Amino acid sequence: MNRVLVVNGPNLNRLGTREPDVYGSATLDDLATELADIDGLDVDVRQTNSESELIGWLHDAVDARTPVVLNPAAFTHYSYALRDAAAIVTSSGLLLVEVHLSNPHAREEFRHTSVISGVATGVIAGFGFDSYRLALELIRSRLG
Ligand code: DQA
Repeated sequence: MNRVLVVNGPNLNRLGTREPDVYGSATLDDLATELADIDGLDVDVRQTNSESELIGWLHDAVDARTPVVLNPAAFTHYSYALRDAAAIVTSSGLLLVEVHLSNPHAREEFRHTSVISGVATGVIAGFGFDSYRLALELIRSRLG
């Protein structure tokens, strides 16, 4: 079974109570339960508020040859360190799909810039948990 790492950045541990009008009322545990159902993939869902830990997980994914679904949360908009780590993933030939629950382009102007997108394999945004599901289905079909 192909392993995929699903990494969530800061404040996504508060899903369920954090701005439910934007992010919905389901929790991160609900997300993990939903993604565990995807046939043929062993999905490892993680979350951290630490930029350093997030970068370490991407390095580990490279070493283990594991594709990545990344919701960088607010780091999306300014973390060049995370961008460089994401570039290590994709330049090593691994898929990295940037996902967002909301559509950042329909929100405040500072969210319109992603420093990650330019080094991601692709981006899926605006579909709630389905953004992750679509990313995983795409990875599954690319892995054959
Ligand atoms: C987010 C969008 C970001 O702008 C925000 O900082 C988040 C969540 C999303 O999934 O919609 O924390 O990445």
